[in-house]
Amino acid sequence: MRFLAVALVMYIGAAQAAPDEFAFGDAKQGQKLYAEKCAACHVSQFGGDGSSVFTRPDHRIHTPASLLAQVQGCNRRARTGLSAEDEQSVAAWLNERYYKFK
Ligand code: HEC
Repeated sequence: MRFLAVALVMYIGAAQAAPDEFAFGDAKQGQKLYAEKCAACHVSQFGGDGSSVFTRPDHRIHTPASLLAQVQGCNRRARTGLSAEDEQSVAAWLNERYYKFK
């Protein structure tokens, strides 16, 4: 019983580890949206699977807020049509996969 309580607390703690800026995002959904709507252009501009835009040494994202802002900026400029909630989901996915802000 006590083990279960500890496990539950740890689980809740992990679930809340996402930054507040995209607390409503669903990373799983974001992964799908990113693959459908965003990846192709990054691939064509940056080569490989496109992810070098996130990992290049001079990449521009250093805070959760700027990550969300860049997702919103790319969404607006490229007219990919993500809703505000979708933007949070994609930000949550990119954070989980690449940026790892707490
Ligand atoms: C039409 C092309 C295009 C599309 C579509 C596009 N992007 Fe981008 N994205 C870029 C370019 C070009 C850059 C690099 C900008 C720079 O270096 O200033 C970039 C940079 C980024 C970065 C910053 C990377 C870093 O760490 O420096 C993020 C995050 C990002 N895009 C997310 C997205 C998301 C999310 C979508 C889908 C909604 C998307 N992009 C769709 C062209 C695109």
